[in-house]
Amino acid sequence: MSDIIDTWRRDHINFSRLLDLLEAQIGLYLEGQSPRYDLMLDILYYMTRYPDIFHHPKEDLASLRARELDPGAGVVVGELMRQHVVLRDSGAKLLEQLQGIVDGAMLKRESVKEPAGTYIAYFRGHMRKEESEIFPLLQTLLSEADWAAIEKAAPFEQDPLFGDGSLEKRYESLHRQIVRELENAGAT
Ligand SMILES: [Fe+2]
Ligand SMILES: [Fe+2]
Repeated sequence: MSDIIDTWRRDHINFSRLLDLLEAQIGLYLEGQSPRYDLMLDILYYMTRYPDIFHHPKEDLASLRARELDPGAGVVVGELMRQHVVLRDSGAKLLEQLQGIVDGAMLKRESVKEPAGTYIAYFRGHMRKEESEIFPLLQTLLSEADWAAIEKAAPFEQDPLFGDGSLEKRYESLHRQIVRELENAGAT
């Protein structure tokens, strides 16, 4: 059942797109121009809900099973799980910080630069590590029965932004922006 890994790979493409958008908006903010705060908040709102609540925990489950099957995988699995905690905590903190700016908190631009840059780079590095090390390991170690057990423990969850289900109202504007970015990319 590497269908789950296929879903994760698709998720990564979507997450990368959002990180690119977030990076561009943070860049505008740091240059003193007017960024789209609503977009930044929606991106982080999504990141702290879909990836942190469904995507990464399911990867944890599969990785824990891999460690049971091969204790030698313990180091890489431990690192992966630590990265998930860092992503969850730093994403939540960044969301809080941006919300604070929208609500009128007086922050120095530099105080956003580092956490935003670190979050974006860390998330990208994390996905690269999963694709180059973790997914191949899972593919080698886990059986069909293991994947079925993981699916049972953490059933498929519709992605509220990129999934086939109805789009949540909160994400309408972000979704329009993503479609526009894709159209622009196709036009160049
Ligand atoms: Fe992950
Ligand atoms: Fe992932």
